[in-house]
Amino acid sequence: MSKMLLHKGLVVTLSLSSAIVFTVAMAADEKVEISPPAAGSVSKAQGLNAWSRIFQVASHPRCANCHTGPSDRPMWSGPSYGKPRVHGMNIQAGNSRIGAETILCSTCHTTKSDDWDNANTTKHAAPRVAMSWALAPANAHWFGRTTRQICEQLRDPETNGGRDTLEIAEHLNHDLILHWAWSPGGNREPAPYSLQEHVNDILAWGVAGTPCPEDQSGG
Ligand code: HEC
Ligand code: HEC
Repeated sequence: MSKMLLHKGLVVTLSLSSAIVFTVAMAADEKVEISPPAAGSVSKAQGLNAWSRIFQVASHPRCANCHTGPSDRPMWSGPSYGKPRVHGMNIQAGNSRIGAETILCSTCHTTKSDDWDNANTTKHAAPRVAMSWALAPANAHWFGRTTRQICEQLRDPETNGGRDTLEIAEHLNHDLILHWAWSPGGNREPAPYSLQEHVNDILAWGVAGTPCPEDQSGG
């Protein structure tokens, strides 16, 4: 039953304040609340602090390995891999981003919904989540990029899939790949903070006006 709920997705409830709060039941009964701070309540300095944590997440191997930009090659990086290197076996995501032109990601990164607890315990096995595995869009280029470059990509609807920060937060909440990134198993290091903290930071950064490092003040 909980697995059915997982695929059906969103339960919308009203919080005690006037803000709308979305809650989603996830694999490990994890719930994420999307509750933006009130307009004007987050300073630019606080927004920049939130951004510095967002950057630590975005540049972490559990995220950046799939956000490799125009190269179309996923990466194997992070302590569990030793030296960073491109994905073995000559994997190319192609324009499809799912390897349709060569070999599908899902050939190895199969969609797993049964026996969930054991899906990712084996070291060096292909990670499996309850949705199709794919490389991120070329615009969402994070691997090896600076905090300012990632910040400017992520705040611009032209390059972030047409989303404002509330929509980014909702997207994070729906995205089962992201839930894997915080409990990846197989000896892989989880992304820093938690999904809830990351969602909170995205929302605070948005209310602060999506400041990026080295923006001119008042500019
Ligand atoms: C398995 C590969 C994969 C991993 C790992 C991954 N992503 Fe993504 N990401 C994608 C794909 C594919 C999309 C495009 C999906 C869409 O737009 O609906 C995407 C899109 C996004 C977007 C939408 C904004 C944009 O600029 O396109 C955000 C935000 C995002 N990912 C955050 C993260 C974060 C944070 C992590 C790590 C905690 C992460 N992703 C890990 C594949 C991945
Ligand atoms: C032939 C099998 C195979 C195919 C096809 C494949 N992968 Fe993988 N992938 C693996 C294996 C195995 C690992 C784990 C390697 C390890 O941990 O040493 C892996 C790991 C990854 C990782 C690293 C995850 C992490 O952060 O630890 C990413 C990212 C990734 N694959 C993306 C892709 C994408 C995107 C595609 C399709 C374009 C794809 N893979 C196609 C077998 C495959």
